[in-house]
Amino acid sequence: MPHIIAPSLLAADFGNLQRDIELVNESQADWFHIDIMDGVFVPNISYGMPVLKAISKHAKKPLDVHLMIVEPDRYIKTFADLGSEILTVHYEACTHLHRTVQAIKENGMKAGVALNPHTPVEVLRDIIADLDLVLLMSVNPGFGGQKFIVRTHDKLKRLQTMMSEEKAQCYVEIDGGVGLGNYKELLNSGANALVAGSAVFASENPLITIAELKK
Ligand code: DX5
Ligand code: ZN
Repeated sequence: MPHIIAPSLLAADFGNLQRDIELVNESQADWFHIDIMDGVFVPNISYGMPVLKAISKHAKKPLDVHLMIVEPDRYIKTFADLGSEILTVHYEACTHLHRTVQAIKENGMKAGVALNPHTPVEVLRDIIADLDLVLLMSVNPGFGGQKFIVRTHDKLKRLQTMMSEEKAQCYVEIDGGVGLGNYKELLNSGANALVAGSAVFASENPLITIAELKK
C-alpha cells in the first residue's frame, strides 16, 4: 500500500488559505491534516468550525482532523457534519475512549487515536483492533515547526509488534517534525501516513516537496 502524505494546514498562509488548499488539491498529497487546538488540552489555539467549514468547501481530498481538545465527545457530530473523513482524538483527553471511538464510527467517520510523546503504545492494546488510525505525536502537540523526537522510531517498532500480536490493521500516522530528512526512515520503521506542516509550506516549492515525500 503506498503511504499517505497529509500536509498540515497549520503551516499554511492563513491570508491565502484558498490558494494553499488548491495547491494541496493539485499536489500528490493524499489528505488534508487539520489541527484543532483549544488552548486547554494544548497551550495554543488554532482555528475552529467556521474555518473548517471554509476549508471543507475548497478541499478535494479527505479531511484528516486531529483534535487537540478536551471533551472531544461534545463535537463529534459537528465534525462529521463539517465533512471530516477521519477524526482523531487524544488518548490523554478521553476517559471513556471506547465509547468515543464507537461514537466517531457511528457518525460515519474513520476513528483515530493520538498518543503524546510520553504515552506508551501499550495503553491501546485493548482497543487497537477497533481503530482505523493511530497517530504518534513526534513532538509535543500545540505548535508546528518543532524538532522531531527521535525515540518515536522505537515507539513505532513497539506499535508494529503490538499490532501484529493483536491482528490489528490501521493507519500508523506520524505527526510533528517530519520532513525530507527523516521520512524514509519512518516509513521503514512501519509508518504509513506522514503529516508534514512546515516541511511542506515553508519549502521553496511545496509541490515538489510533496512529490519527494511521496517517493
Ligand atoms: C502539532 C500538530 C502538527 C503540526 C505539525 O501539534 O499536531 O500537525 O502541524 O507541524 P510540523 O510538520 O511543522 O512539525
Ligand atoms: Zn496534527
